[in-house]
Amino acid sequence: MMKRANCRNLIQLTRRHWWVVMILLLGRPAYADEGMWLPLLMSNTHWDDMRSKGLRIDPEDIYSLNNTSLKDAVVHFGGGCTGMLVSDEGLMFTNHHCAYSRIQGHSTVEHDYLSEGFWAMERDEELPNIGLTASILIRVEDVTQRVLAAVNQKMSETDRTASIRRASQAIAKEVTDRSHYHAEVKPLYYGNQFILVITEVFRDVRLVGAPPSSVGKFGRDSDNWMWPRHTGDFAIFRIYADANNQPAEYDLSNVPYRPRTFFEISAAGIKEGDFTMVYGFPGRTQQYIPSWGIRNFQHHTYPAIVNIRDHELAVINHTMGLSDELRIQYTGRQARVANGWKLYRGVIPGLERFQVISKKEKEQQAMLESLRDNPEQYAHYLNLLAAYETAYDDILPLQQYNTYFSECFWRNPLFRFIFRAYRIPDMDMRSEEGKPAIAELTTDLAEAVHGFYATIDIETEKQILSAMVQLFTEAIPYEELPSLLAEAKQKYDGDYTRFIERLFSKSMFSNAEDTYRFFRHWKRSSPRRLSRDPLFALMRDIVEHYMGDYHPALQDANRSLDSLHRINMQLLLTVHSTELLYPDANGTLRIAYGEVAGSYPRDAIRYHHQTTLEGVLEKHATGHPDYEVPEQLLRIASPEYYHPYSTDGTMPVGFIANNHTTGGNSGSPVLNGYGHLIGINFDRAWEGTMSDLNFEPSICRNISVDIRYLLFITDKLGGASYLFDEMVIHRP
Ligand code: ARG
Ligand code: GLU
Repeated sequence: MMKRANCRNLIQLTRRHWWVVMILLLGRPAYADEGMWLPLLMSNTHWDDMRSKGLRIDPEDIYSLNNTSLKDAVVHFGGGCTGMLVSDEGLMFTNHHCAYSRIQGHSTVEHDYLSEGFWAMERDEELPNIGLTASILIRVEDVTQRVLAAVNQKMSETDRTASIRRASQAIAKEVTDRSHYHAEVKPLYYGNQFILVITEVFRDVRLVGAPPSSVGKFGRDSDNWMWPRHTGDFAIFRIYADANNQPAEYDLSNVPYRPRTFFEISAAGIKEGDFTMVYGFPGRTQQYIPSWGIRNFQHHTYPAIVNIRDHELAVINHTMGLSDELRIQYTGRQARVANGWKLYRGVIPGLERFQVISKKEKEQQAMLESLRDNPEQYAHYLNLLAAYETAYDDILPLQQYNTYFSECFWRNPLFRFIFRAYRIPDMDMRSEEGKPAIAELTTDLAEAVHGFYATIDIETEKQILSAMVQLFTEAIPYEELPSLLAEAKQKYDGDYTRFIERLFSKSMFSNAEDTYRFFRHWKRSSPRRLSRDPLFALMRDIVEHYMGDYHPALQDANRSLDSLHRINMQLLLTVHSTELLYPDANGTLRIAYGEVAGSYPRDAIRYHHQTTLEGVLEKHATGHPDYEVPEQLLRIASPEYYHPYSTDGTMPVGFIANNHTTGGNSGSPVLNGYGHLIGINFDRAWEGTMSDLNFEPSICRNISVDIRYLLFITDKLGGASYLFDEMVIHRP
C-alpha cells in the first residue's frame, strides 16, 4: 500500500514538476556547468554549489553591493569584449583579437605591429586609441516593479514596448542627471524582469603591449574555434583618468586610473578538475527558444550565412595573397568574416548531432504533460505551442530575406560608406535646418573619404559585390527583388561581373579622389548628381526596398515572437524559479563556473585539458603558413627559459574548461577558487559551439590562454617584464 501511495505521489510530482524529477534522475542539479549567472540573482544554492566545487572565497569578495569586490576589476572592453584590471595603475589584459583592429590601426608597412608585436618600454610610449572605451560596473538594481508599473494586460505589443522604453529611459535618466555615470535598463527573461545597470565609462585607453600575430593569432583560421589550441591570444592596455581619477577624453595630462581593486595572478599551475570561474560580459544566447526556432536557424539562416561567406572569403583570400599591402589592408575584415563563417560551420553539425530539435520537442511535450492536471494551463500551453509554430513558419521568409540583405549588402563596408549619404537627396537644401545639416554631413563625408578608401581595394570590392549580387538574385524570388536587381537579372543574364563593372565605371564612388571632390565642393546640382550615381542608386534601391517591404514586417513578426517568448518564460519561471534558470546573455556581467576539464569530442578521441609549447613546435613543423612562429620563440622554446613561469620542464599555452561562455566573453578573466587569475578566455571548442542554443556538458568547452604563457611571452619575447612590478603574482 505504502509503496503504491509513494508511487502515485511521484507520478503527481512528475506531472507537475517533471523538471525536478529529471534532475533527480540525472542525479545532479541542472545548474551544474551550464549557465551564465547574473550575480544579483545568485542565491545560496549557487554559492554552495560553487563552494562544493572548490570556491574558496566569499560571495561578497566576488560581488558586493556595498563593498569593493572583484566585479570592480572586470572591464567591458570596447563594448564587445571583456578585459580585466591587473594592477593599481590601470593595467588591463584582454585578447589580441579584441585589440586587433587597434593594433592594425597603429601599424604601417614600416612599423608593422601586427607582424612584429608592440611593447611600450615606458609610459609615454603607450599608444592612444581614440574611440575605444573601457566600462566598469558601478551597480546593478532590480527595477522590475517600476518598469512593469508602466504596462497593463490590455496593451498592444507595440504600446507595451513603447511604454517600457519610456519607463526605462526615465529610470536611467535619474542616474545620468546627477552623476557622470552611464545608465541603462536591460530586460531579463524576455521582459519578465528588468535591471538598471550603472557603469563608469573610461575613454582614454592606451595600448601597452601585444605579441606578434604569429603568437597572438597563432593558428589563425585553421585553429580558430578549435582545440587543441596554441594561441597566445592576449594584449595589454592601460586605462587613464583625469587628476580626480574620473573618466576623461584622451589627454597627455591624464594619469593611470587607480581602480578600486584588481586581479592577483596565480602562476601556480592548474590541473584537471580544478574549480574555474569566468567573470565577463557574454553578448547573446537563446537557450529557451522552441524547436521551430532551432529549425529556422539550423536549416535556413546558418546555412545561408555559411554559403554567402564562402564566396566572400574566396575573393578576400585571393586578394590577400597578392601583396603585403593588400594583406594588411584586408586582414581585419577577413578575420571578421571568417570568424562567423566557421562558427556556424560548427554550430550546424552540433545541433544535428545532439538532435536539439527533437530534444526541444520532447521538452515541450513533457511540459505539456506536466500541466495535464490543470486544464486551464494545459490549454494555455497548447495554444502557446501552436502560436509558436505559426509564428516561426510566418517569419521564415522574412528571416531569409533579412539574412541575405545583411550578409550580402548591409555588412559590406563600401555599401555602408555610400549609405552615409542616403538621406541627402531628400534633404531640403534651402530650408533653415536643411542647409547646415547638409553642410555638416558633406563635410564629415569629405573628411572620411581618404581614411575609408585606404581600407579597401576597388578591384576586390567589385568582385565581392558581383558575387553578392549573384547570390542575392539567385536566393530571392524574382518578384521580391529590388527593381534595379530585377532589371539586372533580366539584362545581364547572370553575368553580374559585367553589371558591376558598368556601375563602377560610371560611379564616382569607384575612386577616392572623385568622391572627395564631390563632397568637398557641394553645389546646388549635387543632390541630383548623387541620385543619378549608379552605385548610390543601387544602394538606395536595395535599402528602400528592404525598409519598405521587409523591415516593418520583420519587426512585427519579431514582436509577436517576443511576446510568445515572454509568456513561455513566465511559465518556465513559475515551474523552475530563477534559481534554476539563468537569463539569456544580454551583454551584462555574468558568472560562469565549472572546472578545468578535457573531453571526448568524437569517437576514440580524448582532448587533454592543457596544451604546451611543444605543440606550437609540432604545428610549426608542418610548414603550414598559419603556423609561422617568431625566430626568437624557437630559440627560447627550451626548459631553461621557462623559469620562473613553469617548473616542470614544459611551458603551458592554453587550457579548456566547461564554463558556459559565448561571444563577448573574449578577454574574460578565468579565475581559480581564490579568485586569482589563471587564464584569459578567448574561444570555444568547435564541437560545442551550439552552446548558445543548447549547452551539452559533455562537450562544450571554453578555451583560455594560460596566464603563465602571457607572463613568459611578455618577459622573454617582449622584454617587458618591468610590467610585472605593478602586478601581484603568486608563484608555485
Ligand atoms: N573565435 C574567437 C571569437 O569568436 C576568436 C576570433 C579571433 N581569431 C581568429 N582567428 N579570427 O572571437
Ligand atoms: N572569441 C569570442 C569573442 O570574441 C569568444 C568565443 C565564444 O564565442 O565563446 O567573444
